Amino acid sequence: KRSKVYDSLFRPLKDLRISVTDQCNFRCSYCMPADVFGPDFPFLKKDELLSFEEITRLAAQFAKMGVEKIRITGGEPLLRKDLHFLVKELKRIEGINDIALTTNGVFLTRQAEKLKEAGLDRINVSLDAIEDRIFKQMNGRNVPVAPVLKGIRHAQEVGLPVKVNMVVKKEANESQIIPMARFFKGTGVIVRFIEFMDVGNTNGWDYSSVVSKKEIIRKLCESYPVEPVKANYYGEVADRFRYMDGDGEVGVISSVSDSFCSSCTRARLSADGKLFTCLFAQKGTDLREKLRSEGDDEALYSFLSDVWKHRHDRYSDERTKASVKERQAGPKIEMSYIGG
Ligand code: GTP
Ligand code: 5AD
Ligand code: SF4
Ligand code: SF4
Repeated sequence: KRSKVYDSLFRPLKDLRISVTDQCNFRCSYCMPADVFGPDFPFLKKDELLSFEEITRLAAQFAKMGVEKIRITGGEPLLRKDLHFLVKELKRIEGINDIALTTNGVFLTRQAEKLKEAGLDRINVSLDAIEDRIFKQMNGRNVPVAPVLKGIRHAQEVGLPVKVNMVVKKEANESQIIPMARFFKGTGVIVRFIEFMDVGNTNGWDYSSVVSKKEIIRKLCESYPVEPVKANYYGEVADRFRYMDGDGEVGVISSVSDSFCSSCTRARLSADGKLFTCLFAQKGTDLREKLRSEGDDEALYSFLSDVWKHRHDRYSDERTKASVKERQAGPKIEMSYIGG
């Protein structure tokens, strides 16, 4: 039986973001800078990861609490072996009507078909530039654009709707806003421009490196006039804009300049089974121990409900110069660990 669970600010739980690995084949400067995430970085060990069975068991309890939408993330989720098996299991959970994946796209060519067959509904691909020189700098691993584009095309061919995420970082890839829009206009791929966020402690974030939603839209309008359109559903992360010429739409995700905590319905599960009720949380609640000790599903359900009921996170709404500084000094989870 399903019943909605609300947090202390009356926000229902609706989405579960599941990270399946903290590893990635890229080293994007805003997420896993290569000098920090080097060969000696203590990534999670295999036995620390939740198994697909454990993830599915948890997801089923979350579904009873009102979760309808699941997003699989990483690190790079396609590095987790046989990911399509997990999709297949999640798909069978009653109440889950949307299963999505956020990936850098490199391994999509090989996996898109299996994922689609397993029941995956759609894909968001991270791509920060359409020009090789800039993309290579952004991904920190000298990977050109071609394999990602091939992955996107492949996903579309097997019938998976694709959106592209571009994190906009001042000076680094700002110049790619128009070229990215131009490239994907009319292809059915929705580009979403994302304000660079102060997640984690390693990406050297500063207000001065953020390109705001306002600036992004102003720049876009110089070549392609757009107008705002209504959200697809309550609490949608991206603001939508449609091209005035009718040739599709773009999105902007403005966690810094125009935050959206008041409608945040998302819980996050790390690959080692910690539950986070905010992307900017300083610590999570361990569920792995709970799963591996004797308690039954009912106990698990009431434990999870209690965590959500006590939730009051609204980090981006409260962000100030002082709070950024304070968080940068303390412990903070990394983007690659929690999957955005
Ligand atoms: P859709 O369901 O397709 O709208 O996906 P999404 O935008 O919710 O997820 P995706 O993984 O594509 O994330 C896009 C960007 O939004 C990333 O930079 C995420 O970190 C950011 N994001 C997603 N949810 C939240 C959130 O609750 N808070 C903040 N601050 N950022 C978020
Ligand atoms: N700010 C904004 N978005 C980020 N992402 C990773 N790090 C950051 C950051 N610091 C994005 C990735 C991916 C999504 C899950 O989060 O590009 O598209
Ligand atoms: Fe990997 Fe995505 Fe982080 Fe880039 S943003 S390092 S692709 S997890
Ligand atoms: Fe939700 Fe935290 Fe993001 Fe606000 S900052 S929208 S509470 S995850």
